Amino acid sequence: MNISILYGTETGNAEMLAEDIQSELEGDHDVSCQNLSDVDPMSLVPEHLYLLVCSTYGDGELPASAQPFAEAMEAAKPDLSAIHFAIFGMGDSEYDETFNHGPKRLAELMLAHGATQIGERVAHDASGPEMAEDLAFPWAEEIISQAEERLGAAA
Ligand SMILES: Cc1cc2nc3c(=O)[nH]c(=O)nc-3n(C[C@H](O)[C@H](O)[C@H](O)COP(=O)(O)O)c2cc1C
Repeated sequence: MNISILYGTETGNAEMLAEDIQSELEGDHDVSCQNLSDVDPMSLVPEHLYLLVCSTYGDGELPASAQPFAEAMEAAKPDLSAIHFAIFGMGDSEYDETFNHGPKRLAELMLAHGATQIGERVAHDASGPEMAEDLAFPWAEEIISQAEERLGAAA
């Protein structure tokens, strides 16, 4: 399966996790990894499964590297009806009122433009007991098996 991991980060945690997910998956799949700041929402392709990894910053906002992507999406209003994505959030429950609001917002934007979400949005909590990769690796495997069922293993 062609997998594109796209990360939105402020201080690098989501980038590190995205690269770790890439290393974990690339034995079995064709996997690329890019910063959302380098991605044009008009360039997403139906042949790829998009795994988004995104943190939250400020007061529940998208991290800096995801903001140009969100702004471009609002401006260009691409038709994402053939696009499939899943999303993994990174946040901290110390910010209880805005916990993981960045990835929530990113998922809402993708859905508002017609994309289909695979699986539930999973949220890592930096104040919780788990390492992000201990949640993210099984999440990625589960998403891929759901995507293979829906899209066919050849996708
Ligand atoms: C100034 C600041 C503001 C933050 N705001 C939030 C927030 O509103 N909600 C949340 O869930 N996490 C928040 N976080 C936690 C980050 O999302 C978390 O540390 C994440 O791992 C950072 O990932 P990154 O390095 O990829 O940006 C904040 C962290 C900092 C330092």
